[in-house]
Amino acid sequence: MFGKFSRRHFAKLAGFSALGMASPAKPADDAARPARQAPASFPDGFIWGTATSAYQIEGAVNEDGRGRSIWDTFAHTPGKIGDRSTADRANDHYHRYKEDVGLIKELGAKAYRFSIAWPRVFPQGTGAPNPKGLDFYDRLVDELLKNGIEPFATLYHWDLPQALQDRLGGWRSSETSRAFADYAGHVAERLSDRVKSFFTVNEVGRFVNFGYGWGIDAPGLKLPQGKLNQVHHNVALGHGLAVQAIRAKGRAGTKVGPAENIAACLPAIATPENIRAAEIATRELNASFLGVVLTGKYTDGFLSYTGKNAPKFTDDELKIIASPNDFVGLNIYAPQYYVVAIDKAPGFKVLPFPTSFPHMNVDWLRIGPETAYWVPRLAAKVWNIDTIYISENGTSADDKIAADGNVYDLDRIMYLRNYLAQLQRATSEGVPVRGYFLWSLMDNFEWIYGFEKRFGLYRVDFDTQRRIPKLSVSFYRDVIARNAIGA
Ligand code: BG6
Repeated sequence: MFGKFSRRHFAKLAGFSALGMASPAKPADDAARPARQAPASFPDGFIWGTATSAYQIEGAVNEDGRGRSIWDTFAHTPGKIGDRSTADRANDHYHRYKEDVGLIKELGAKAYRFSIAWPRVFPQGTGAPNPKGLDFYDRLVDELLKNGIEPFATLYHWDLPQALQDRLGGWRSSETSRAFADYAGHVAERLSDRVKSFFTVNEVGRFVNFGYGWGIDAPGLKLPQGKLNQVHHNVALGHGLAVQAIRAKGRAGTKVGPAENIAACLPAIATPENIRAAEIATRELNASFLGVVLTGKYTDGFLSYTGKNAPKFTDDELKIIASPNDFVGLNIYAPQYYVVAIDKAPGFKVLPFPTSFPHMNVDWLRIGPETAYWVPRLAAKVWNIDTIYISENGTSADDKIAADGNVYDLDRIMYLRNYLAQLQRATSEGVPVRGYFLWSLMDNFEWIYGFEKRFGLYRVDFDTQRRIPKLSVSFYRDVIARNAIGA
């Protein structure tokens, strides 16, 4: 391959002189170049982190009194996971957490977002806590702090105790919302001396629709729209109750907020009218979670659109749901809705994606770096948010090991470089993004894809559990060290 390239390259250069032409212009002398500008930086104190979740990495599903979760059940159901795997062992992180904290340190990352498995803490979802349930997270948090890495804990990254699904129908019941708050309060009581920031629920927009609407995530239900909207409402209620429980049981000053895969709305062409249309779309297409959480109201548009399928709620519930947050986490991967302005209601029109629109190696992950600019900018404006974290961003890639033993994930680096450049553009304009968590620290159990898709900075061999840094580790380490994207 290399030889072939060299020959072609040589022939091309030889061709230039045979034709009597000068070789391609040599770069100008350094002295003649304009002074090189320092790369555009992120704000001082910007928090650089990376992220994982419990079921995707921990393994040890039967250890130390852990209960069963809906994802254990789902992954063990034939036909649900692309490569027929489960996360029974996954990255064996439960036993290898020290090594994994070492990987974060090697990156120079200042923060780590992980999730706590509810069924480890309350194996039955409610009732008596498992005495050993939080010990693992105690050890993990101590190890992180020892290495100068700030822990950010997510309380719900989809692994609902199976017992709650069996007994209550999971999030179909507001009893689950209350159980979630009890669990959140218990965790905050125990960990908030060292964990200063908690994310409540991760990606409501995904786990409710995929798990309760389309049946392709756990618990695998296909509920009609009215019931599905009620599930959304119960999760929003669970979030609000958890915020209150953390304030009641955690140390003063503990910070809390959601981590949502916001419906990413972008102006197709950035005219003032289309930007306004993208604001309206952001508000309306996120009404069922971020909207109600941040305003205490469902929008008129949402209520008239859902009509008889609208969720049932009380004013008291709306007040709980809108308990003030300290930050909002936005998971940003792909542009979802490119919009233009229209004169009639609702004020925006969503454009269809051409089939030729580029994407990464999962088809849903369309490439739209400006998502990292528009989404936080519009969210901050629409809901008046003053602290945003990009709680996830990253991509799956092919990640083969090259003959020399390295993984040259140039496509991931391309993706990250371009998204981060747009994020930098946002922070330079004053959009209040305070930190960024790259998904993911290492390859892991990617839900319905099993181990087929790799999102990690570190490649994991799931037979030997060996982790090797991909080239993107060097890229991200350099970004973190400079607090800027290098040239
Ligand atoms: C988000 C989740 O949806 O994106 C992560 O919060 C997930 O848990 C990641 O791993 C990638 O998604 P997927 O569906 O490709 O595994």
